[in-house]
Amino acid sequence: MSTRHFLTLLDYSPDEIRALLARATELKKMLKAGKHHTPLQNKTLAMIFDKSSTRTRVSFETGMVQLGGHALFLSPRDTQFGRGEPIEDSARVLSRMVDGVMIRTFEHKNVESFAAHSSVPVINGLTDLFHPCQLLADMQTWFEHRGDIKGATVAWIGDGNNMCHSYINAAKQLGFQLNIGCPQNYCPNSEIVKSASNSIQITHDAKQAIEQADLVVTDVWASMGQEEEEKERIKVFQAFQVNKELLSLANKDALFMHCLPAHRGEEVTADVLDGTQSVVWDEAENRLHAQKALMEDLLA
Ligand code: CP
Ligand code: NVA
Repeated sequence: MSTRHFLTLLDYSPDEIRALLARATELKKMLKAGKHHTPLQNKTLAMIFDKSSTRTRVSFETGMVQLGGHALFLSPRDTQFGRGEPIEDSARVLSRMVDGVMIRTFEHKNVESFAAHSSVPVINGLTDLFHPCQLLADMQTWFEHRGDIKGATVAWIGDGNNMCHSYINAAKQLGFQLNIGCPQNYCPNSEIVKSASNSIQITHDAKQAIEQADLVVTDVWASMGQEEEEKERIKVFQAFQVNKELLSLANKDALFMHCLPAHRGEEVTADVLDGTQSVVWDEAENRLHAQKALMEDLLA
């Protein structure tokens, strides 16, 4: 049997994604009730980080410990990955020792090559193209607050980036309408858009994108690796700030999400991020529970 990986949301069927989300909520309840659940005893997850992280690192590492296993933090500074050992060789070697690998890196194709040569499950912890683990947490948060997302309308406001691409995949898999409001020249990847054209609409007018939204989502204007473009992007994205005025055009009970870290005063104002419609802290917490459900499924 070939090894199962989680590189994008398309690696799981809609039913499988819904089952993971339900399990995540169940694991959350068990944890809060003080019940120990340790199906990953003696199992190890290697975590390769080519980019910075707070939530991803802490949620995977804590999640592994809670499931009875162990996680290893590997940075390019202290390993041979940073000195040019081929990805394929690293994949072959690591998968002879550990039970799963999580990777956060730049080029998505590097995660695909790693997975192709790994005999243990590989999880995408963010690439320039996708951030599927964050979507598990976002969807879990929606399901917990509002029930199934099928038929809902989601507005993505801002950059057509890795998070936006994962929202496109989620729209396709879970059956919601995704209205993307982005500046011209900052649209999502055309191939990814094409693959989900029935579920999404793109406009360059944030007000139009947010109309009738049940969920409003944004992200930083300059992602990791785009630091040099930051000044230019701040100018281009001004009309895409999620502030009270823009949010008032969405449905009255719309929720607001942001994968964090956020820049108050740039892509979102403090009154929205810290306001009553924001569920960003639940969303951040759910990284832990959603990924525990994923690791239990892949590694147990
Ligand atoms: N949202 C998210 O992935 O956060 P980190 O970059 O802190 O892992
Ligand atoms: N789009 C952001 C997400 C960070 C979690 C980035 O890639 O930097």
